[in-house]
Amino acid sequence: MKTVKTSPFTDQEPGTSGLRKQTKHFQQAHYLENFVQSIFSAIGNTVGKTLVLGGDGRFFNVPAIQTIIKMAAANGFSRLLIGQNGILSTPAASLLIRKYKTDGGIILSASHNPGGQNGDFGIKYNTPNGGPAPEKVTEAIYQNTLSISEYKIESNEDINLDTLGQTQINDMTVEIIDSVSDYADMMEDIYDFELIKQGVKSKTLSLCFDAMHAVTGPYAREIFINRLGLDASLVINSIPLEDFGGGHPDPNQAHAEELMKIMNSDQAPDLGAASDGDGDRNMILGQNFFVTPSDSLAVMSANITEIKAYKAGISGVARSMPTSQAVDKVAEKLGIPCYETPTGWKFFGNLLDANKIALCGEESFGTGSNHIREKDGIWAVLFWLNLLAIKKQSVEKIVSSHWTIYGRHYYGRHDYEAIDSNSANKLMMTLREKLTGLISKKVGDYTITDACDFAYTDPIDGSISAKQGIIIQLNPDARIIFRLSGTGTQGATLRVYLEKYEADSNKQSFDTTQVLEPLAELSKTIADIVHFTGRTSADVIT
Ligand code: G1P
Ligand code: ZN
Repeated sequence: MKTVKTSPFTDQEPGTSGLRKQTKHFQQAHYLENFVQSIFSAIGNTVGKTLVLGGDGRFFNVPAIQTIIKMAAANGFSRLLIGQNGILSTPAASLLIRKYKTDGGIILSASHNPGGQNGDFGIKYNTPNGGPAPEKVTEAIYQNTLSISEYKIESNEDINLDTLGQTQINDMTVEIIDSVSDYADMMEDIYDFELIKQGVKSKTLSLCFDAMHAVTGPYAREIFINRLGLDASLVINSIPLEDFGGGHPDPNQAHAEELMKIMNSDQAPDLGAASDGDGDRNMILGQNFFVTPSDSLAVMSANITEIKAYKAGISGVARSMPTSQAVDKVAEKLGIPCYETPTGWKFFGNLLDANKIALCGEESFGTGSNHIREKDGIWAVLFWLNLLAIKKQSVEKIVSSHWTIYGRHYYGRHDYEAIDSNSANKLMMTLREKLTGLISKKVGDYTITDACDFAYTDPIDGSISAKQGIIIQLNPDARIIFRLSGTGTQGATLRVYLEKYEADSNKQSFDTTQVLEPLAELSKTIADIVHFTGRTSADVIT
């Protein structure tokens, strides 16, 4: 065992979901090691503890895992559970932590960010409940990175990650496991596989799933092809690649091009779906029809008792603040609470653990439930597949009927990417300073009824998270939200979220871009976007 002298890096503060940097940045000497030792120090008393370890398979995944194994051995861990070939989807890692009751896990992923030598890499720690570490833990990790002076590492040979089984390094057992079967078994417990199978067999139900050359390929093949009988050609891009085939593994209309083409063609299957780099995001499509993630969450909530695992009903729901208020309408009708949390899955953990909620989601293509403590891409796809099998209606019909009952929330997110960080901070600061002056102002066809900086007090542990995004509330019922991304690796990304409620069923089938256009213009004026960013329009709209 070696103790290696090191000195702090000042840029290891975890963002919305762990530490993300360009891969090359991670590859510099001591960078990964410093962060890992800082996680271990935050866990404390690591002797005899156990961890789950795996990543989304992107470039640098395997060398990073080999390093972490050696460091875990030197820090006295007793057992590591590692996905075969070092691969674990984020939901599978969450499941394994919970199922095998480990002291948490380390997940290597930069989620939907591109991978490869010139792409991004990331690392995060999940706590023993299976969920992303809450802010007090990530803050402790960050503080450790600022004072670190040495780390411990074993000098053993690399472990073979390809073969299932156990290896011993001193007192530590390294177990290479097949995570696909555990995950697929859990899905069978939640959903009615028999019913879905019948639909697939009788050709009344079909799905095209795009794994985007990311981590869900093996999970999707086992579940959709082997267990549900789907034709193999309908699971596309299912071989995980270190650089995701050069693509951007983000399941949205802009990046899942191949799937979009299939779903907009005459031969489109009933359901189209995709998942991201690490398998926690999902996109849901019908034939020539896109379901916004916010609507998906609302439809799920409204139909939750149709699904085997949730038959008894649920205690409550939650959404991140910028997610549309579609789910709020459902919660109101069901008479259950709806919590509004800051952006990032870590804020749902306490609510799920305390059984205040059983279903939650984010506008950023994330939905999940109390079955684990991460959002879950394949779980969401199976929800829709099961719902289609029950309702025997098209995706479009299910969603438009939902709007008739609850109203429609037109929704769009406009991202201004890789802008100068100083200008982005100035934009937010300037906006913050003028908030109170905005109230009651008439802007275009709207009046500003409220303007505030979102702060959240966790109802379970009382912790406070301030400055979580600026909300401009408008009358008639609409919202514009501004916040800076916490997952980017180059400059800053300004996210502008636009939402407009329409209760009148005769006005619910308009084009989203057209409906939101006035709000997009207003957002530019309110935050002086062109002045601060030099951009006249957003780079990506989802
Ligand atoms: C983005 C999403 C957020 C999600 C996170 C991790 O974070 O907006 O909802 O939880 O990725 O997948 P952001 O870059 O906005 O901080
Ligand atoms: Zn992800």
